[in-house]
Amino acid sequence: VIDTIADVSAALDVERKEGRTVGLVPTMGALHRGHAALMGRAADECDIVVATIFVNPLQFGANEDLAAYPRSLEADTETAQRAGIDLLFVPASNAMYATAPLTSVTVDDLSRRWEGESRPTHFAGVATVVAKLFAITGRCRAYFGEKDYQQLVVIRRMANDLSFPVEVIGCATERDDDGLAMSSRNAYLTPDERTVAPRLHQALQAGRRVIQDDGVRDPDLVMKTMRETLAPEPRFALDYAAVVGAHDLTVPPVLAGELRLLIAARLGRARLIDNLGVTV
Ligand code: PAF
Repeated sequence: VIDTIADVSAALDVERKEGRTVGLVPTMGALHRGHAALMGRAADECDIVVATIFVNPLQFGANEDLAAYPRSLEADTETAQRAGIDLLFVPASNAMYATAPLTSVTVDDLSRRWEGESRPTHFAGVATVVAKLFAITGRCRAYFGEKDYQQLVVIRRMANDLSFPVEVIGCATERDDDGLAMSSRNAYLTPDERTVAPRLHQALQAGRRVIQDDGVRDPDLVMKTMRETLAPEPRFALDYAAVVGAHDLTVPPVLAGELRLLIAARLGRARLIDNLGVTV
């Protein structure tokens, strides 16, 4: 476990000098099976893997759950070790941001849509910390879950726009048996809310079915299907249900090519997001 920028950078420089490839798995901790899958894949594909645990204050809005965000360093260390992680970078907030940063990385357009509408500063916070982690780590393959699909698209674009020597790799979402996507924020669900939570995934599946099985190409009809699947459960407060181009995240007039169904809703204390891919 390393807690300073200088030490982790130096350790990875030594590995690369000796010809080893580096994998990076950035996380905010509260590790679950989804994180373990990213780490396992990174360990399979790279010689040395560093995972980071840092609850990044920049990506939380003023009224969001920064203070309450689940923290479990001891269990996380075990999970990371079991998943094949070699180095765990766990900086304190004042090690990452010794001085309050005046620099912010904004990935325009992609950041303003969907999640960005209810969380206007979120993706600048994510892009800034991930750019910093890329700069600290150096040349590597970096693994992110498709669960946060918009985040993945934003990070890919940022890495490309800024020419980081980093290959960004998206990994399939891990789900519980009933379809609920693994997320650290599922910890906020009461047992009762947990039983209805999979309806979010069912709404995505219903949207995908009308595209794939019924040949629907009108995005409004698909979005209506998703909304109607969620509606009978009044505990959900829907934020958005959309079908978008997989790369530009805009709703096309007619559905074609690589698409992504996106959904976000509040359920009790938890704000849940999920997505599914479909190609027509
Ligand atoms: O997905 C997350 O856990 C975070 O947004 C990330 C990518 C580690 C940046 O803080």
